[in-house]
Amino acid sequence: SLVTSKEMFKKAYEGNYAVGAFNVNNMEIIQGIVDAAKQENAPLILQVSAGARKYANPIYLRKLVEAAIEDSGLDICLHLDHGEDFEICKQCIDDGFSSVMIDGSKYPFEENIALTKRVVEYAHSKGVVVEAELGKLAGVEDAVNVSAKDATYTDPEQAAEFVARTGVDSLAIAIGTSHGAYKFKGDPSLDFERLKTIGDLLPSFPLVLHGSSSVPKEFVELCNKYGGKIPGAAGVPEEMLRRASQMGVCKINIDTDLRLAMTACIRQLLVENPSEFDPRKYLGPGRTAIKDMVAHKMRNVLGCSGKR
Ligand code: G3H
Ligand code: 13P
Ligand code: ZN
Ligand code: NA
Repeated sequence: SLVTSKEMFKKAYEGNYAVGAFNVNNMEIIQGIVDAAKQENAPLILQVSAGARKYANPIYLRKLVEAAIEDSGLDICLHLDHGEDFEICKQCIDDGFSSVMIDGSKYPFEENIALTKRVVEYAHSKGVVVEAELGKLAGVEDAVNVSAKDATYTDPEQAAEFVARTGVDSLAIAIGTSHGAYKFKGDPSLDFERLKTIGDLLPSFPLVLHGSSSVPKEFVELCNKYGGKIPGAAGVPEEMLRRASQMGVCKINIDTDLRLAMTACIRQLLVENPSEFDPRKYLGPGRTAIKDMVAHKMRNVLGCSGKR
């Protein structure tokens, strides 16, 4: 059934693993992710961005997720990714989402608190949980443009104060990850010392990592081999995500790696089968590529396989 992330996070915190939150935009993506969760017997968060709602039309994504829950028999959390104002959060809550993110990270501290509090109050009155964000990720966020220059990591003392004053259920923090396929120019690094300090100040509290795709080299190379052009793409090494999962991080957001897996597969298939034009013949394999990528994450990166 449709569930919140409350129990998932409690178990993930205690078990030193993380739940994957995967972005969905269409039927094949939803089916691929859910197939993996079923195979791996893993907890699952499906998340919808404002862009995804605009692309698919909100009702289609909701009904597809409803179908996935009914067909799979899994417990799934349906989450709004990067809600930018009270209104979109309210809409999703009223539409039946079990979790929303209010992303006030672009606002000054006090305004972020006030906005988050308002969403928490409404969400909790409807049994819905809330994720907020403090600190700025580098790169492009959904409807939130933050230049890499202005990027500032989360202040640990502020994080503790923010959680206490807002009553939020989980908090996304900035420790060096960023959205998209170009996360690091030189050696990848995350601020684990900062994560440790935040975690120590917020015992038992679930932290969230956005921008956590690993941009696997073999998928970048496959894309580029079959006509793609994404040179220099780089992500967060898998061992860093494993480490973060053991330090209070309970939710890890992945979108880019699913896009890469599906696109690499479809590029190869179309180049190798130039006379193919039935969409099922490439969307089907694209869906399987998503399933394989998600199963790999659950088993080898997040540690959530078998934790349902
Ligand atoms: O954080 C952004 C997610 O990857 C969603 O991306 O806004 O293009 O749907 P999107
Ligand atoms: P990636 O771009 O690293 O996949 O991050 C996705 C994300 O944080 C969605 O909110
Ligand atoms: Zn994000
Ligand atoms: Na964890």
